[in-house]
Amino acid sequence: MCGIVGYIGDRDVSSVLIVGLERLSYRGYDSSGISVISEGELSFWKKSGKIHELSKIIDGLNIKGSLGIGHTRWATHGIPNDINSHPHLDKSKKISIVHNGIIENFLDIKEGLIKEGYVFRSQTDTEVIVHLVDKHYKSNLVQALAAACKHLKGSYGIAMISELDPDKIIVARSGSPLIIGKGQSENFVSSDINTILPHTKDVIYLEDNQFGVITKDDITIYNNELTKIDAVLQHINWDPVQSEKGGHDHFMHKEIHEQPAVVRRIISKYVDSNGSITFKSVKDVPLEDVSRFIIQSCGTSWHAGLIGRYLLENYAKTPSEVDYSSEFRYRRMISKGKDMVLAISQSGETADTLAGIREAKSNFFPIISFVNVKNSSIDRESDAVIYSHSGQEVGVASTKNYISQLTTLYLFSLYLGVIKKELTPEQAKSYIDELNKIPDYIESILAQEETIKTLADKYYLSNQFLFIGRGINFPSALEGALKLKEISYVHATGYAAGELKHGPIALIDSKLPIVCIAPNTSTYDKMLSNIQEVKSRKGKTIIVATEGNKEIADYADDIIYIPKTIEDLSPLLVSIPLQLLSYYIAIKRDCDVDQPRNLAKSVTVE
Ligand code: G6P
Repeated sequence: MCGIVGYIGDRDVSSVLIVGLERLSYRGYDSSGISVISEGELSFWKKSGKIHELSKIIDGLNIKGSLGIGHTRWATHGIPNDINSHPHLDKSKKISIVHNGIIENFLDIKEGLIKEGYVFRSQTDTEVIVHLVDKHYKSNLVQALAAACKHLKGSYGIAMISELDPDKIIVARSGSPLIIGKGQSENFVSSDINTILPHTKDVIYLEDNQFGVITKDDITIYNNELTKIDAVLQHINWDPVQSEKGGHDHFMHKEIHEQPAVVRRIISKYVDSNGSITFKSVKDVPLEDVSRFIIQSCGTSWHAGLIGRYLLENYAKTPSEVDYSSEFRYRRMISKGKDMVLAISQSGETADTLAGIREAKSNFFPIISFVNVKNSSIDRESDAVIYSHSGQEVGVASTKNYISQLTTLYLFSLYLGVIKKELTPEQAKSYIDELNKIPDYIESILAQEETIKTLADKYYLSNQFLFIGRGINFPSALEGALKLKEISYVHATGYAAGELKHGPIALIDSKLPIVCIAPNTSTYDKMLSNIQEVKSRKGKTIIVATEGNKEIADYADDIIYIPKTIEDLSPLLVSIPLQLLSYYIAIKRDCDVDQPRNLAKSVTVE
């Protein structure tokens, strides 16, 4: 999704900006642009398509700038074309703005500005901001930006430069991340910490309703009344994440193969040498009193949440409900005083999940979040955080982070079970022993990659798929279908197998591939009946079953075996062949696996 970079200093400004944009590109985008001030004069270049399209038009121009801003756009208002790309400029082309987020009332503002004679070049919501700044400008740019922001409803991270005050980058934030990096006689701006960390580890996270004025040597932060405030300079003690493919054709492939290591890493972080679970970050949270968990998340993280519910109810005997963040945030929030919200997010920036946290906080719910990206907004705004430790995930479709979410939720549920005395420490240890076997089991499934590739060759021309599962593997069916549609653009639906006869059974004919998730769990017999229903209607079954199960082969057109494990860990194994199947189908269909069309890694707008 949209990304912002900015730089002021003595380096080659356009190169710093382009490299920054490249580092943002994993988030998903459809156009890019930069704006630079050189000897007091403002110039800009913007282009739809990949960043190399932008590079092509600036290569050889020998741009000599002292400061600049850049943007990767993920279209929300207006198609992805050159004109709608950022930066956007005022009428005299002296003020240049890049913006992340959505201005919800832009149509009303636009109408008013048009009546006042403003001419709009683009279809974007962003353009109203730059015209508002122009309208409010008297002699001070930050005052003009602050006055403009008072009119805006929605979310924004903004970076602005102007010939009117050519030695400054001015930034603003409300609901969309904006980080300032402090260097030696140079400073940086970005919406993503990974763009700043290669240059400096001293950063300021702008808070909502704050403004920043950045020169080469100074950073000044203001509140929304434009009173100077002391900025909190934080030193980040981790390195920028490496985003290299390491010999794999795609990041997604690399990340699928990292999963055994990810599970081992999480065990080493949260299980001590005595085999006891330690979550230091939640040790002061009164978990024993919690009477209900409300899990809220989006996309793949929501599927992890659905599985989390089974685990929390099974091990900690605590009633749990799961909601999409986009629904949860608008629900009536009724707290009986002992409820806790669990937010799950890889990026820690998903707008709906963040808004859900804020709503829940204002209704006095305590919040624990499961987050991968440290220092992200959700990390900073939650009462306690359990990190997913999956390392940077670059592929837009989540794979290794899903596995790490399942692993941390499993450990958290066991931890809670012990705290609530629903499990003895010995029982918890025996469940951890099972978890310890999972990395090797995943490796053994990855070793079947060629077989799964053959299945992809067989089925890749099908334009629709059905995924079915039951119990704890019903969410696995949802996730399998999501993965396939995300990266191969094939219509895929995940369904609870028991619901087949209430609708989707009508879809079944001799051409429809149905991925049936049927490991040996408590719902296996029921699942077998559902598979028989499918077979008697001539559906093509691709069955995921437990090693040694010969009986089920009679009902399979194709079968993928996974090692035997306990029911609560089966989703970790089931998801691996489904990821590989989606991956190879997408490759056969010639799709951009790592950056699927229209999708973003970090969805920072509602
Ligand atoms: C986007 C990504 C998904 C992800 C979802 C939630 O849609 O493409 O892979 O599952 O956002 O993101 P989060 O960062 O909150 O887990």
